[in-house]
Amino acid sequence: MTPHEWDAATYDRVSEPQLQWGREVLDRLSLRGDERVLDAGCGSGRVTAELQSRLPRGRVVAVDGSAAMVARAREALGPGAEVIESDLLDLELEEPVDAAFSTATFHWILDHDRLFARLHAALRPGGRLVAQCGGEGNVAGFLAASRRVAAREPYRGLLDDVSRAWRFAAPDETAWRLEAAGFVDVRCWLSEAPVVPPDPPAFLTSVCCGPHLERLPAPLQDGFVEDVLAELGAPPVLDYVRLNIGARRAESVA
Ligand SMILES: C[S@@+](CC[C@H](N)C(=O)[O-])C[C@H]1O[C@@H](n2cnc3c(N)ncnc32)[C@H](O)[C@@H]1O
Repeated sequence: MTPHEWDAATYDRVSEPQLQWGREVLDRLSLRGDERVLDAGCGSGRVTAELQSRLPRGRVVAVDGSAAMVARAREALGPGAEVIESDLLDLELEEPVDAAFSTATFHWILDHDRLFARLHAALRPGGRLVAQCGGEGNVAGFLAASRRVAAREPYRGLLDDVSRAWRFAAPDETAWRLEAAGFVDVRCWLSEAPVVPPDPPAFLTSVCCGPHLERLPAPLQDGFVEDVLAELGAPPVLDYVRLNIGARRAESVA
């Protein structure tokens, strides 16, 4: 399945929650400053820029599947970064990276076995993976509200398969998948991170409701977002649950 396209300018403007989570996850990735580090799913590059500032003698390799996000990230990161447009499921780097980092991305990818195999292949032996994405139970309240709206006219029957847009995996299954892909020292856990988003209509349009809106005809899209916001009530709390991941590619056996 092709990754879905994003409104990069709006995402860049409203992604304060993702920036905050990104900073917290970056604090778990201790760096000397001279490494090559992959940002898997760099988006518009806001979190990647923070990673880049921690690599004064190193280099960021930023990868995303959205052409609009890649264009925005190239602008934000400048010539010092390598920015690659690629589906992470097809990721192939010319040279392995010392570490792989990713935030707010893995749940947009359904095939985690293949994703972890590609990340494993991108890392040098001993290289670390530090990541966070939506996990089991993520935005359950938002999804319930959007299901209630989708069951009503004029949306009825148009959004029946939307829950297949994401994989909100549990820690145990993720740990098994990482180990099956060849990772060691695996640690996965959930954390709750409720958010009242900045500019809720723009946030829902560019982030949470992207898969819904792709399935709706243009004249229904703004109304759907308004109806979901009304269903969420005030303030519109998005009940985010994050899946945190730490792992390491095993050293080569001599
Ligand atoms: C919510 S954004 C997160 C961006 C950034 N990491 C951040 O925290 O702000 C999710 C990103 O994952 C990318 N993405 C989703 N599926 C992908 C795939 N299969 N391959 C590459 N990128 C993908 C999207 O294009 C989007 O830029």
